[in-house]
Amino acid sequence: MTNFELYNPTNYVFGKGQIAKLPDLVAKDSKILLAYGGGSIFKNGVYDQVKTALAGYEIVEFGGIEPNPRYETLMKAVEIIREQNIGFILAVGGGSVIDGVKFISAAVKFKGEPKDILHKRLLIKELSEVIPFGTVLTLPATGSEMNSGAVITIDESQEKLAFGGSALFPKFSVCDPTVIESLPKRQIQNGIVDAYTHVLEQYLTYPHDALLQDRIAEGILQTLVEIGPSVVENPSDYKLASNFMWSATMALNGLIQKGVPSDWATHMIGHELTALYEIDHARTLAIIGPSLYRVMFETKKDKLAQYGERVFGITGTSVEDKAEKAIEKTVEFLHAMGMQTKLSENTDQFDGTADFIVKRFEERGWKALGEKQNITPEKVREIVEMSY
Ligand code: NZQ
Ligand code: ZN
Repeated sequence: MTNFELYNPTNYVFGKGQIAKLPDLVAKDSKILLAYGGGSIFKNGVYDQVKTALAGYEIVEFGGIEPNPRYETLMKAVEIIREQNIGFILAVGGGSVIDGVKFISAAVKFKGEPKDILHKRLLIKELSEVIPFGTVLTLPATGSEMNSGAVITIDESQEKLAFGGSALFPKFSVCDPTVIESLPKRQIQNGIVDAYTHVLEQYLTYPHDALLQDRIAEGILQTLVEIGPSVVENPSDYKLASNFMWSATMALNGLIQKGVPSDWATHMIGHELTALYEIDHARTLAIIGPSLYRVMFETKKDKLAQYGERVFGITGTSVEDKAEKAIEKTVEFLHAMGMQTKLSENTDQFDGTADFIVKRFEERGWKALGEKQNITPEKVREIVEMSY
């Protein structure tokens, strides 16, 4: 196992009715920016619960944070916070609202051009330089409620860029699994597949000595396989909803990544597909992941075989045989979760996508990705073309 530090200061408040605890979590004298998305919180009662809990607080509302949150929109909130001297932000929404709030939090006191936070992928570490924030999660998927990363889109340049830092953990996250009842099926499918791929990014690398991390990762994968198809059909089943929400958080709250190598190339390539074609984040992962496992088969085959055996109970005549079957089982699961695993099934105009992505990566100076830094631009091209 490699050396690690595990730092996660988020107070994770989980379960039915926990939104009522907000007054215990937010300081009474704070002036709050309540940030939300396109309005789902008004239809499903989450807004009412938040407002009831925070009766008596001074609240300024900021709505309209879009899926794949836009820099241009978020800068409007930055202005409001600066003008109105707001001291705390409450993100009420899914990964997009929470990520958006992380950017707002970092940009308010940033000296310089806030776009540089994204272009230079700055690490935001000083608590004195951010506006503190908490979250009320409405969509289990990204793990953003318990991690310090975020992904922001710049509309003007069609770029989707990640950033983060230890000052950007939420102070608290209220995670009530009953909020998933109002989610469209498509979003539940997305949430399962995003969480599943988060685990694979940190697990499907090469054999190492971190036995416990492997077992935890496999436990999350097995849970998602067990509950995935049924939670889409029965989101009001609390057993399914609560396991879904907790699994999605555990998939990306930092725990399973400690002491192990990680990949993240599926995400880096997938973000480009969202930036170019506005394909839902999880759906880009379902397009790229299987091709990446195939192109990088030699690097990943031992771990693929272990994953196949332990998660799907696969047997086979050789490591290669088991690894191949594990990829097939993964694709089967993605299809069962409503994913279309080819780019051409998600958009009509995809000619030149591989060239565009490779050029972009080269312009950014990304010479190689992946756990062994062997996903070169040529491999990226192969992966994207295989995904057409
Ligand atoms: O905007 P509203 O009206 O709230 O509607 C949203 C949105 O249309 C809706 N929704 C959310 N909760 C709902 C609901 N509808 C009904 N009932 C509810 N309870 O769902 C739609 C999608 O929401 P969004 O927040 O965009 O989805 P998700 O949570 O999947 O977040 C995706 C974003 O997170 C980033 C992605 O790149 C993408 O931008 N990611 C963030 C990560 C992180 N911070 O660690 C890691 C991930 O890999 C990912 O990249
Ligand atoms: Zn993701």
